[in-house]
Amino acid sequence: MKNGHSHSNGKAVKNGKNGANGSGGGHDGFVLPTTTGIRTIHTPSVRETFAGKHLLVTGVTGFLGKVWLGMLLDHVEDVRKVTVVIRGKKGEDATARFARIVERNPAFRPLRAKYGLGLRQLVADKIHVVEAKLTAPMCGLSCEEARALTSDVDCVVHFAGLTDFEPEPQQAIDANIHGARHVADLAALTPTKRYVHVSTTFVAGMRQGAIDEKLERGVSPTGIRFDPEAELKELELGLKTGNSKKERLDYAMGRARALGWPNVYTYTKALSEHLLEGRTDVVTTTFRPAIVECARSYPFQGWNEGINTSGPLVWLLSTAFQRFPAKASLCFDIVPVDTVARSMMVVVAAALRDEAESIYQCASGDLNPLFFERATDLCSIALRRLAEKKDEGWFETNVIARLDAQCLDDVDREQILGFRRMREAARATRNFLKDFELSRVLPPVVYEKVDGEKMEEKIRSFSMKCRTTDRKLGTVDEMLRQYRPFIWDHDYRFRTGHLKAASERLSEEERALFGFDVEDICWRQYWLHVQVPGLDTWCLPLLRGEKVPEDEPLALGEAPTEEVPADGVRAKKSAADPADSVEKSEPAMRATA
Ligand SMILES: NC(=O)c1ccc[n+]([C@@H]2O[C@H](COP(=O)([O-])OP(=O)(O)OC[C@H]3O[C@@H](n4cnc5c(N)ncnc54)[C@H](OP(=O)(O)O)[C@@H]3O)[C@@H](O)[C@H]2O)c1
Repeated sequence: MKNGHSHSNGKAVKNGKNGANGSGGGHDGFVLPTTTGIRTIHTPSVRETFAGKHLLVTGVTGFLGKVWLGMLLDHVEDVRKVTVVIRGKKGEDATARFARIVERNPAFRPLRAKYGLGLRQLVADKIHVVEAKLTAPMCGLSCEEARALTSDVDCVVHFAGLTDFEPEPQQAIDANIHGARHVADLAALTPTKRYVHVSTTFVAGMRQGAIDEKLERGVSPTGIRFDPEAELKELELGLKTGNSKKERLDYAMGRARALGWPNVYTYTKALSEHLLEGRTDVVTTTFRPAIVECARSYPFQGWNEGINTSGPLVWLLSTAFQRFPAKASLCFDIVPVDTVARSMMVVVAAALRDEAESIYQCASGDLNPLFFERATDLCSIALRRLAEKKDEGWFETNVIARLDAQCLDDVDREQILGFRRMREAARATRNFLKDFELSRVLPPVVYEKVDGEKMEEKIRSFSMKCRTTDRKLGTVDEMLRQYRPFIWDHDYRFRTGHLKAASERLSEEERALFGFDVEDICWRQYWLHVQVPGLDTWCLPLLRGEKVPEDEPLALGEAPTEEVPADGVRAKKSAADPADSVEKSEPAMRATA
């Protein structure tokens, strides 16, 4: 069912397919029989739809928001204005932060390559940066400020969200529930009340099989009826009694599980959907991506940011531990970030024409499923090739990279992983070696003979390796526990008919730019040439405790003296200065969902 809302007296009212507001665009793209044959009418162009429009967008500092904003500015030159709502961070105000991101983050390479220093002018002409606090009522703006900000906004697009699986629960509530609510309040002030909300397919929670693009308000994944407002109230009240993060997390997880959500992230994202569904003052279009992963081509092949779902899994396979802790038969529902951004272009355009569906899912499993068994095989091959290319050493290239990885299907995963035992061994060895002095146990003559100093150095280095191993295993163990619902417990098949239909209505030219392209993905090519090399560059260093450097900045105030190379990177600086590293270089875990 389409949103089909119309607005009367400032109220958004649902009135059935295509509405009664005369937009009528819903007929476009349908195949019509005519007296002279069959004629396909395409949806008005995405670019035409955006032309002259003013959007208010949150979350453009994140992985997905940046790629989408870059694509918008790159491919839709006639968009009139984009107001980006950002918070200041680490001593930088919103304006300085946004300028730095545009000038240095790899997501904006195509724009930098296209415009050079002219990008500054483009940003000055089109972008309005607003520093605001999403977690405060009306985003911390006064009534006058909010009204002025929204008076000619055509659509509000909300990407922002706290994507950790198990954060401090109140923070997740503030970002994912109150944040969305406050941004929707801004949308309610706009003339058209259009609000596009980015959620996740994994609000499906503890269910199996086909997941439709719909929401039954007040019905949980396990079929329990609940009142979303009352649930939120009780949850927040209960959290006040928790004395530690663990207690608060246990409490929130208890409530989440009782209703059928496996973690705080999916619980808060889902509650937000249920609460928004009850609002009549905005026209909400919900967009649910599955697991967002490396770009196929935009901003460039392999781009990714932060630690995502497949990062730790791929890292595991690159070690001597050759097990993929996922069920072989389960669908690994990943979507390249540029596919997600393209889809969002189509969805926002549909919202701007008042002909959007209520919910769009953006996933690959429906039309082109990849199963964990295949992903594991492809991953092994890709890692082997990488090891050969890098020539990491005889042992890595000839032994580790040649081991054949397997999924842990049908075996007790916890037992086989034995992380705890591996960690204990690493810790015990470290403790034994860290204060070990060879000179104390060897007679001086022997110490001299065996070059004791050199040996002590080796022992120290091995002891450090044990410590690193212990920490890495701890991180991965924790991640796997959190990922379990998505790689072990639930076999989802997210339906994506709405996006496919919208994509089919695009002209051929626009389908090439914005079409829903998951059916074109060759998973072999993707894993070998995109995903694993992309993770190796952008994600695995973070797991190794290293930093990912930002690009060189545009030369401030100077005319461009050199072309930006095709890959957009002039030279990589050392990441010694933390201020120079990509913002998300802290290994914060982004939820898969
Ligand atoms: N990545 C995925 O695999 C995936 C899958 C499905 C759905 N999604 C959804 O897609 C959206 C974007 O995800 P992403 O991958 O781009 O996440 P991300 O890289 O972690 O970025 C999150 C964005 O939200 C903002 N944000 C978070 N908490 C905030 C707060 N309290 N106040 C203001 N801004 C806040 C961040 O701003 P700062 O930079 O200021 O922190 C950032 O711009 C989220 O809604 C997420 O739930 C993501």
